[in-house]
Amino acid sequence: MLDLIVRNANLPDGRRGHDIAVQDGRVKELARAIGARARKEIDAAGCLVTPSFVDSHFHMDSALSYGRPRVNRSGTLLEGIQLWGELKPQLTVESIQARARKLCQWAIARGTLAIRSHVDVGDPQMLAVQALLAIRTEFKPFLDLQLVAFPQDGYFRLPANRDNMVRALDMGVDVVGGIPHFERSMAAGAESVAALCELAARRGLMVDLHCDESDDPLSRHIETLAFQAQRLGLQGRVTGSHLTSMHSMDNYYVSKLIPLMAEAGVHAVANPLINITLQGRHDTYPKRRGMTRVKELMQAGVNVAFGHDCVMDPWYPLGSHDMLEVAHMGLHVAQMTGTDEMQRLFDAVTLNGARALGLEGYGLEPGCFADLVVLQAGDPVEALRLKPARLFVIRRGEVIAETAAVESRLNLGGQCLSVDFRHEGGSAA
Ligand code: FE2
Repeated sequence: MLDLIVRNANLPDGRRGHDIAVQDGRVKELARAIGARARKEIDAAGCLVTPSFVDSHFHMDSALSYGRPRVNRSGTLLEGIQLWGELKPQLTVESIQARARKLCQWAIARGTLAIRSHVDVGDPQMLAVQALLAIRTEFKPFLDLQLVAFPQDGYFRLPANRDNMVRALDMGVDVVGGIPHFERSMAAGAESVAALCELAARRGLMVDLHCDESDDPLSRHIETLAFQAQRLGLQGRVTGSHLTSMHSMDNYYVSKLIPLMAEAGVHAVANPLINITLQGRHDTYPKRRGMTRVKELMQAGVNVAFGHDCVMDPWYPLGSHDMLEVAHMGLHVAQMTGTDEMQRLFDAVTLNGARALGLEGYGLEPGCFADLVVLQAGDPVEALRLKPARLFVIRRGEVIAETAAVESRLNLGGQCLSVDFRHEGGSAA
């Protein structure tokens, strides 16, 4: 007797009508009409079943703090950083945990079972680090929370951050972070990239820097990051997050830069909701979008993943932690509405995120962890179009969240109709 069978599932790669057999928390078999029985059976009825969503870039310590101690009046990145600085002295471990716990619950209900969250290490008491390490443990059975030690006020610019970084890593934070474009000079930024990559290499850790989150086309720390990844043998373990300056860079320079990134195996993470909101703020018209060059990076073979970045915090007043909302915004901003392109952006919130985070056992092949989401949609493109209900969220073979199917009923002059927003069992595929 198997633990679980999900029957008649459509898979993200286009296979239709498959059964997924699960035993001991892992996918055991994937085939049409599996004859065996299971303790629990779910009829997906032609719905899409995907490996769970991955959020490759988030800030859980600030999530759901919107309005505290005041709202961001200008809506800018810099006022957001200032506001976060005002809020920090008021934080307690308990208040950070309460917000983080709620956010994790939202993420799980939306089918996101892996999150890489940056955690600000600028506070000498390390309250946010303590709080999120405890949340990582508390949610481990349900969600993979990977933490990045993030010196929000600069690694060199706030001198205490050099010690704080080491303390955070000693406490068990997983990944080395940084913010080179926020250092006092371009040279100091480049120096911080080298120092942080060396630290990661010494400790055998991954690197994920807030890199060039700027509209300045001369903010080129990504070049240094690719160089250091190559020099230190960190290929595949380094991520450049945001990379918004690439939007504004000279095309000739980018034609040199992107192959260097591909060669160095650097992952790129864009945050479409936040990039489109915060970048281009100094422009009148035309107004730049600011998101990095997702399409060109993907075409060059760079692994591109998406992050939510913020939910109701000093930088962004909206959001419910839905990675389909992120991908939906991303495909609009990148103008990637071709059928294959939309499919690749679904990967940006699933497979590509898992690669950037280095998740083991992720996917839908036999042997992978049974971390699955059944969506009220027929295929990835329809999922992007509808951002539908996550009917079942499955972790290691157990259902940990359910949402009822959404149905709208009309009464048009006495004629009662049920409206189905799905289109002939799927969309363009
Ligand atoms: Fe960020």
